[in-house]
Amino acid sequence: MKLHNFNAGPSALPVEVIEQAAQALHNFNDSGLSLLEIGHRTSLFVPVIEEARHLVRELMQLDADHEVLLLHGGATLQFLQVPMNLLDSTNVASYTETGTWSQKAIKEAALLGEVSIAGSSADDRFTSIPSSLQIDPRSRYLHITTNETIAGTQWHRLPYDCTCSLVADMSSDILSRSLDFNRFDLIYAGAQKNMGAAGVTLVVVNKNCLGKLTRTIPTFLDYRSHIKEGSMLNTPPVFAVYVLLLTLRWLKAKGGVAAMEKNNLEKANLLYDTLEQSPLFSLPVKKEDRSLMNAVFLVKDAALEKEFAATAKAEGMIGIEGHRSVGGFRVSLYNAISLASVQALVDFINAFARKKS
Ligand SMILES: Cc1ncc(COP(=O)(O)O)c(C=O)c1O
Repeated sequence: MKLHNFNAGPSALPVEVIEQAAQALHNFNDSGLSLLEIGHRTSLFVPVIEEARHLVRELMQLDADHEVLLLHGGATLQFLQVPMNLLDSTNVASYTETGTWSQKAIKEAALLGEVSIAGSSADDRFTSIPSSLQIDPRSRYLHITTNETIAGTQWHRLPYDCTCSLVADMSSDILSRSLDFNRFDLIYAGAQKNMGAAGVTLVVVNKNCLGKLTRTIPTFLDYRSHIKEGSMLNTPPVFAVYVLLLTLRWLKAKGGVAAMEKNNLEKANLLYDTLEQSPLFSLPVKKEDRSLMNAVFLVKDAALEKEFAATAKAEGMIGIEGHRSVGGFRVSLYNAISLASVQALVDFINAFARKKS
């Protein structure tokens, strides 16, 4: 039976990426060695990390002020590293509170300086994106989580007009839609949803924002150290960087970010329309704030929930349970998930609904 993988992360990767990565584990570029056995500063690996960084620059159409870094520690380390580099006692950081992930970012920033909440959707249990923001005029930056993976919300109107630096956690929608990436002074994202395997974190930073603090930043946490060393301050996560490169090559060959956006819209519309039309399901997120990456929904009759989950699994639909903290269901629709898989899911949903009506 074909499995349709809707896991929220780590998540589905293109088959060809997995095949090439497997090959590289046995014999990397006909070197006779595994990718895992070669030095990161050798002529075998250096071109890998350089091409990966170059492809990010190309796909995001970044200008010369923006540096591309491939780091360790996941987006979670960025919750700390961002304020470590941008916030001190002379300024303020504004954050939007839109769900679990932004709350984690806020918690870390508050350890390092004054945080102002510019907008929150806590009162409607994170089922929307704040429609207006109050940004403290002393703000050094405004932080947003462009896609809240658990809540299933996404910023569709970006606050480009904020009068401070715009900083974004794009872990779950990076490279899934065309944005004006140069309008952000800092973007970060773990690779394991839209860009490859867990273990490598992308940071895009406008270098003009750095070096303005009174704080002494430990070397490893200072973005400038990583810029200086070309993301090789220490041993990079070589396998994850290679899978990132393969995924970026795949993305480019498929037509780049604009082509991803078109597919992602088609997949999300197909799924949301199906769920909306069925009397069996409800969609908690405000329509205009629904995520194109993580569709969250509920089975109205709680007694049917277990059966829906079990039948989905038996039909090869993997990873559709909601996050353990919220329950319900969540279907992730990242770049590598095909329209055919979404169609298979929709066919299953329709068949289940017919049986129960
Ligand atoms: C929006 C968002 N931010 C941050 C994280 C944490 O990422 P990591 O596990 O790479 O630290 C996640 C993980 O799912 C996420 O979805």
